[in-house]
Amino acid sequence: MKIQTVLLSTVAATLTLALAQGGALPKLAVKPTYRVCFNQSEMDNPWRLAQTKSMQDEAKRLGWTLIFTNANGSAAKQVSDVRSCIAQRVDAIFLTPREQKPLTPIVLEAKRAGIPLFVIDRTVDETVAKPGQDFVAFIGSDFYDEGRRAAEWLVKQTKGQAKIIELQGSTGSSPAIDRQKGFADYIRKYPGIKIVASQTGNFTRDEGRKVMEALIQAHPEATAVYAHNDEMALGAITALETAGRKPGKDITLVSIDGQKSALNAIIAGKLGATVECNPRFGVKAFQTLKDYAAGKKIAPRLVNEDRFFDVTNARQMLNSAF
Ligand code: AHR
Repeated sequence: MKIQTVLLSTVAATLTLALAQGGALPKLAVKPTYRVCFNQSEMDNPWRLAQTKSMQDEAKRLGWTLIFTNANGSAAKQVSDVRSCIAQRVDAIFLTPREQKPLTPIVLEAKRAGIPLFVIDRTVDETVAKPGQDFVAFIGSDFYDEGRRAAEWLVKQTKGQAKIIELQGSTGSSPAIDRQKGFADYIRKYPGIKIVASQTGNFTRDEGRKVMEALIQAHPEATAVYAHNDEMALGAITALETAGRKPGKDITLVSIDGQKSALNAIIAGKLGATVECNPRFGVKAFQTLKDYAAGKKIAPRLVNEDRFFDVTNARQMLNSAF
């Protein structure tokens, strides 16, 4: 029975790979307007709202039809959202995959259906579906580098001595995977820096708060927090204050995103720094589609440039944050 299962999954994996590797990318005609899908993963934090608004604003400006779907945090729903876009024969698909692995096969399905697909923000499993080969391109931030930059700041700020609680993003999502790795790889060289606990807070403020309530009780020795996004860091600040800690004074926090409320927390002295993860995809995503239709060569990875905010620039940058 076991051997049969192993054989079946090997055959399935080989088939998926074969399908992934075959054929050219679907073409896209030059047209005055397009009907495109934007498949969002969830709408539960300011970053997601800003990303969606940016896509909707640009579609409106160009006079294109944007079919918007919200998977409400379910990878299974997102797969069926994309499938419904394929069935509606849209011109192209913009997909923000909630998690890497479950969203990979649907990317290959779009290709087989002849619909160009752009992966934006988060990645799929690129060992199976490759940018420039199975989908047009990946557009988004370098999450590994975001984690590395957060670690670099923390090491400097704590002079290489810290006991860290890490709040991870949604399990299986590319930002959670890469931000964890980028941070871990950097701190490895510093023996005085240790992660004492690491747990998911699902990228939301409320879960970040709840998880921190439990972790700070279990680890009162913690002197730093690394949160994979600002919302969890802001939730953690509330939990730490309730536990009698003084964020920014007896515990140092660093996070990622660069949203307005995080910059305000820096100005208030509670959050130390945040690495920007720019959610404003609209102009770049739609321009890339137009370039693709026009037959221009598209790089398989289009990486966004992200800023860095700390006490030295938070006030000046406040109005430019989302
Ligand atoms: O994929 C980007 C991440 O997802 C952002 O950091 C986070 O806030 C969002 O939910």
